[in-house]
Amino acid sequence: MIIAIDGPAASGKGTLARRIAEHLDLALLDTGLLYRAVGLKTVRGGAAANDVQEATKAAETLDFSELDDPELRADSAAAAASKVGAIPTVRQALLDFQRTFAANPPQGRKGAVLDGRDIGTVVCPDADAKIFVTASVEVRAERRVKELRERGLEAIHTRVLQEMKERDNRDASRAVSPLEPAQDAFVLDTGGLDPDAVFAEALNFIRSRCKCD
Ligand code: DC
Repeated sequence: MIIAIDGPAASGKGTLARRIAEHLDLALLDTGLLYRAVGLKTVRGGAAANDVQEATKAAETLDFSELDDPELRADSAAAAASKVGAIPTVRQALLDFQRTFAANPPQGRKGAVLDGRDIGTVVCPDADAKIFVTASVEVRAERRVKELRERGLEAIHTRVLQEMKERDNRDASRAVSPLEPAQDAFVLDTGGLDPDAVFAEALNFIRSRCKCD
């Protein structure tokens, strides 16, 4: 069983993906981490994140132990991820890993949940259930500010909002695999919902699509 969960930054897709994977005992792949790791590696090597050659090399040589780096959670890594994510050869280099994970989930699990931007449209177009998690950019920026402050980091609301708009725009307007709901995705607006309600709605949808528990 493959479940695709896509959506913009701070939409709640990561939390939802984790809860669904735990509940259904499926493997979980946060594909944003792959792009963050490629972005961080590219800029750490001294190149700009939109340097096609360096970013592609970083993707092709990505070692999956690099996914444990705590710096991957920083907004600077997210911005670099969004830039390398616009490069077709980077996306191609990461595609195989994602598809192999979905087809052969680790630890003998019977399926996988993948979350990202293009899982339902490109990586796993035949997924059993596709959910597109969204919320207004204002709501998402508010959440991100709260999350950063809870982590003891400084956060200026107007700057977070501006950066989020820029990232949304870059992710949605790129030529390859833009951020958009698959035609057969269930669009779940998390704006007025708490995480339990989001989980309940998503699980109902998944149950309507596949025999899962
Ligand atoms: O999900 P996230 O916020 O960790 O993703 C960071 C960036 O990585 C996102 O702005 C765009 C890119 N990304 C992508 O292009 N495709 C994916 N499947 C996942 C992430």
